[in-house]
Amino acid sequence: MKIKFQLNGQPVEAEAPIDETLLDFLRNRLRITSVKKGCDLGECGTCTVLLNGKPVRSCLLLAVQIDGEDVTTIEGLSKDDNLNPIQEAFVKEYGFQCGFCTPGMILTTKALLDKNPDPSIEDIKIAFEGNLCRCTGYDQIIESVLRAAKLIKR
Ligand code: FES
Ligand code: FES
Repeated sequence: MKIKFQLNGQPVEAEAPIDETLLDFLRNRLRITSVKKGCDLGECGTCTVLLNGKPVRSCLLLAVQIDGEDVTTIEGLSKDDNLNPIQEAFVKEYGFQCGFCTPGMILTTKALLDKNPDPSIEDIKIAFEGNLCRCTGYDQIIESVLRAAKLIKR
């Protein structure tokens, strides 16, 4: 089926098999490999993208479901060579180690801070309920979100 949607602010038109997940569609057809395949079961959050600004697990959606919608991956956050303040905060606070969970963590952070620019630690933990990290122990990720909130406020 032919689908048309916005990807990182750009119009995209592509053929999507009706049974293909959004995750496989983005990775295999559009070569957006920042969207990671972890569990492929909706449990780890590494495949998170923003759908109309809200975090969703792309392994649980079909590509055809995004027809007419707006999708953001981490490529849509930075402008030219400039990191988004959230990316900058993750770098400064060592909010990642292997980096496999990081695109999903950063997109979840973006959705959180768009809705709640001044989150408490509890708010951050709730926002990350669907995103697993096997490396950091989460403390540095929480520090990254707090720093990002400060940077954005400036
Ligand atoms: S790969 Fe989608 S939630 Fe794990
Ligand atoms: S940094 Fe390795 S899984 Fe999170």
